[in-house]
Amino acid sequence: MTDAATVDGYQRAFDTLCDKRLAQSMYSECDVLMQDVLLTLHGDDHTGRRALEMQLFKRDFIRYYEREVYPITLKATLNPYLMEGRMDLVEFGGRVNINLSADLAGIDRDAGSADELDLLLSVSKKFSEGATLFHSTRNKDEVRLEVGQTLSLFKEKFLTPSWKRREALLSSVKEKREPESNLPRDVLTVLLANRDKHDLDDEMIAREVAFFLQAATHSSANALVHIFNEIDVWSKSHPEHADKIKTDPFFLQRCVHEGLRLHPASPVAWRTSTCPFRLLSGMQVDDGDSVIVDLQKSNQDESIFGPNPEQFDPYREVVGKAPSFGLTFGVGVHTCFGRDLAGGSLPGRNLDPDKYYFGTLTNLMRSLLSHNIRSDPDNPPVTDTTTVRNNWSSYPVLIG
Ligand code: HEM
Repeated sequence: MTDAATVDGYQRAFDTLCDKRLAQSMYSECDVLMQDVLLTLHGDDHTGRRALEMQLFKRDFIRYYEREVYPITLKATLNPYLMEGRMDLVEFGGRVNINLSADLAGIDRDAGSADELDLLLSVSKKFSEGATLFHSTRNKDEVRLEVGQTLSLFKEKFLTPSWKRREALLSSVKEKREPESNLPRDVLTVLLANRDKHDLDDEMIAREVAFFLQAATHSSANALVHIFNEIDVWSKSHPEHADKIKTDPFFLQRCVHEGLRLHPASPVAWRTSTCPFRLLSGMQVDDGDSVIVDLQKSNQDESIFGPNPEQFDPYREVVGKAPSFGLTFGVGVHTCFGRDLAGGSLPGRNLDPDKYYFGTLTNLMRSLLSHNIRSDPDNPPVTDTTTVRNNWSSYPVLIG
């Protein structure tokens, strides 16, 4: 086979992503950042690393984050924009998520320094450009060079001090001078504590922490902008429901999931076959052949998502067990670590809003809507032309 096989249709795409004979292949264009990080590993190496890091993403931690940490970060990030009465939603999305990502990755910051946080955000943006190099419209060698330089800066300014603090803590715990509960719960600590067991060298650890920093920041930030745009357009043509979006968090979560369904972070997932076999579509693939899973199309499979699947419709009823956001967080061995944190619980029997976890995206939108966020009639949004992914580089809004 010469051309890559393309898979679409929700169920076929789902099964293909779960097929362990297919290895990840979309994120290897920027090895300086992505070589052997969780997302690009396959087989036992991936299983071992994932199990190691997964311990951080237990339910209690996600809940603690959503309830205790995120509201404080959100308030602090939002306040200056409320005073101004306007903001760029792309910039805001990055700023509100970078603290969360840095905590998860294990990067310490000076809590009072806005400049330092902005520097970290620009570093993570460059890492994101590297991670998604496959879809870049820029000169790829130039981007690789910039990512390499940014990684050096990141190590000097952020990683090394965070690393030293954690190594000192780990020694204290080992020598029983401190209880284990004093260790931070983050990727860097887990990797340093297990580096021998998992054969992790310094460069590998640096790449993994940098990868995490960008993974937790930019997909959520881009999703936030898409979701706002969909809600804004829909509310204008359905003014009778505008209030419901603001007052009913379950309905708002439906809007958020509907926005996620229509806008997966990447429109496609690429895999490479590790052996000859026949795809569910009947197409034969050989060892090393590429397989493209069309997430965008599969998320608009009429047999699952109902009529007019290309349209935003928060009243949409989904058939069977498919989640309302479709394949946007992936499935199978590479399922997104941030799915429950960003997307929240899937509505079931628990309809008590005080006990239900709506996810950071719904909570964010809820807060922005309560502050009367609206599109800026004088400043239209600008598309990001540095990538073929459907993102905005700027999305001005008015608030307050
Ligand atoms: C709306 C927000 C997000 C979206 C749409 C999203 C989407 C995805 C997708 C589609 C994958 C799988 C890629 C593939 O199979 O090829 C993935 C993997 C991953 N995501 Fe997310 N993500 C989001 C937020 C987050 C957050 C907040 C975190 C951190 C807590 C995160 C961490 C990860 C990690 C570590 C992986 C790699 C998992 C593995 O390879 O085993 N993501 N994400």
